Amino acid sequence: MNKTLNIALPKGRLGDKVYAMFARAGFECPDILEENRKLVFENAALGLRYFWVKPSDVAVYVERGAADVGVAGKDILLEYAPDVYEMLDLKVGKCRMCVAAPTDFRDDRRRTLRVATKFTNIAAGYYASLGRDIDIIHLNGSVEIAPILGLSDVIVDIVETGRTLRENHLEVRETVVPISARLIANKASYEFKREKIDALRAGLARGTEGTEA
Ligand code: PRP
Repeated sequence: MNKTLNIALPKGRLGDKVYAMFARAGFECPDILEENRKLVFENAALGLRYFWVKPSDVAVYVERGAADVGVAGKDILLEYAPDVYEMLDLKVGKCRMCVAAPTDFRDDRRRTLRVATKFTNIAAGYYASLGRDIDIIHLNGSVEIAPILGLSDVIVDIVETGRTLRENHLEVRETVVPISARLIANKASYEFKREKIDALRAGLARGTEGTEA
C-alpha cells in the first residue's frame, strides 16, 4: 500500500534549497516549482504531499501529526523541545546561536545581566549552565535594537553572516550552540510509514555526504 507522506517544509529561501535536496533524494513534486501562492502540492504517483509553512511552525505540524515529516532549525527544536524524532542533520541553513553585545559593553559579573532574546529557553539554559543570574526580556524580533536602546545589556540571537550585528555596532561575545536544519518525524508516523521515511532519510543522507558538519 502506498501511504501518502505529508511533508512540511519551511517557506522561504531555506525551503527552496531543502526541496531541491528532497527532489534529488527521489521525492520530487514538480508542481511545487510553479510560480504561484499555493501552499499544498501533491505527487499522487509517488504518494507525496508537500506543504509550505512558516519555518517556526514546522515542528508544530509534525508534533501533532498534521505532517509526517518536516524540516526545522535546531534553534526551534532546542527552544520548544517538540516531541518528535530528529532524524538527520541536513547541514544547510547553518548559523549559530550567540551572545552579542555592543562593542563597548563591559560585563560586571556581580550584576544581574539583562538578556533580550526570542529564544528564552535556550538563553535561560545557557546562563543556568554558567551559574549566572539573568533577567530575560522576551522579544519577538529585531532583537538587535534592545541593547542600543538600553533595554538589555546583551542579546542571544542567531548569527549567520554577522552583518546585522556589525551594522548595529554589536559583536559576538560567546557562541551558545551551532545551528542547522534537521529532518524531523512524527513519532506515530514513523511507526506507520517507516519504510518511506527511512528511504527519505537514506536519500537525504546520501545527498549530504561529504558536506562538512
Ligand atoms: C535572523 C537573526 C538576525 C539575522 C542574522 O533574523 O535574528 O537578525 O537573521 O543574520 P546575519 O548574521 O546574516 O545578519 P531573521 O531574518 O531570521 O528574522 P527575525 O528578525 O524575525 O529574527
